[in-house]
Amino acid sequence: MIREGLTFDDVLLVPQHSTVESRSKVDLSVKLGNLTFKHPIIPANMKTITESAMAFEVCKSGGLAILHRFMPFEEQLDIALSIMKDFGSNGFGLSLGVKDHDYDNALKFINHGVRVFCIDIAHGDSELCVKMVRRLKEADNTLTIIAGNVATGMGARRLWEAGADVVKVGIGPGSLCTTRVETGNGVPQLTALMDVAQTQNELVELWRTKDVNTPKRHFPFIADGGIKNAGDVVKALCFADMVMVGNLFAGCAETPGEVLQIDGRCFKNYVGSSTHKTNYIEGVSAIVPTKGHFEEILSKLLEGLRSGCSYQGAHSLQELKDNPEFIRITNAGLKESHPHDVIIG
Ligand code: XMP
Repeated sequence: MIREGLTFDDVLLVPQHSTVESRSKVDLSVKLGNLTFKHPIIPANMKTITESAMAFEVCKSGGLAILHRFMPFEEQLDIALSIMKDFGSNGFGLSLGVKDHDYDNALKFINHGVRVFCIDIAHGDSELCVKMVRRLKEADNTLTIIAGNVATGMGARRLWEAGADVVKVGIGPGSLCTTRVETGNGVPQLTALMDVAQTQNELVELWRTKDVNTPKRHFPFIADGGIKNAGDVVKALCFADMVMVGNLFAGCAETPGEVLQIDGRCFKNYVGSSTHKTNYIEGVSAIVPTKGHFEEILSKLLEGLRSGCSYQGAHSLQELKDNPEFIRITNAGLKESHPHDVIIG
């Protein structure tokens, strides 16, 4: 039997009776293991999104910043030390691959006080990723390890059981990704998130009965890729604990890279991570119009998220996960959902 896969645009949330008095009172804080963040939005750990200026702003906002890994060790360390000097080590993470030199570098970073790592490879449900998680946890089991990317509940479970504190979910939903067309592999993102959430619930239940091989009692995950607007953030957070966002921040003032002038308009590069590798490429290189500052974009997304919670009668992100009701929509429904029959001024 072939299952059906859904993504954000295939569904809407059905509004619920609400006792939320003011949207401003919705609690957007989130706990990941021992760490608490003021909001759940993580800019993507991509070369054209998160370097020092972005990391600084993210930490200032109380969120989690994850530096990309396509730069030399010394540069990563310099940025890590300067950010951690201002904000401490809890809100700042470094990205790693799964090679021996990644592990060796991680040990050096740990000696310099880095506490959060994101093991980030295209196919995270692999023995290479499982081994890297285990090695790092054996080196220091108090680190926070994020690992991915996976697209299935079983893939997430293997990483959690290997010791990952947080799993990152998303194979091919990203705006620059060509994984699905190049390889035929992937899971529409909403279905991937629902599968992982179901496994998460099963593990919590098993943990309660002490019938599972892990000391954790919560199994958080990040929805990574394909988020086009605040509505998608709300839908993703009905399942995931945090979201990772590239495109929505691409071109903002704090992203790295020059402003390009084309026909009197301003753009910045937004480049798929796989294009920095020499092997098989599963992403594209693009330009996007420049946008304002990170802080403005973040605050609009958080406003949308607060409103989304209030339509759901949720006082917090935890409550948003309590029985959200989705309705499947048609193409006509999607068309109706966007502005229509008007000329936008
Ligand atoms: P959005 O949709 O926010 O997605 O732009 C950002 C996420 O896309 C992933 N990413 C890639 N996926 N090939 C891929 O298949 C690539 O070259 C690539 N670059 C980024 C990544 O998970 C990011 O957070």
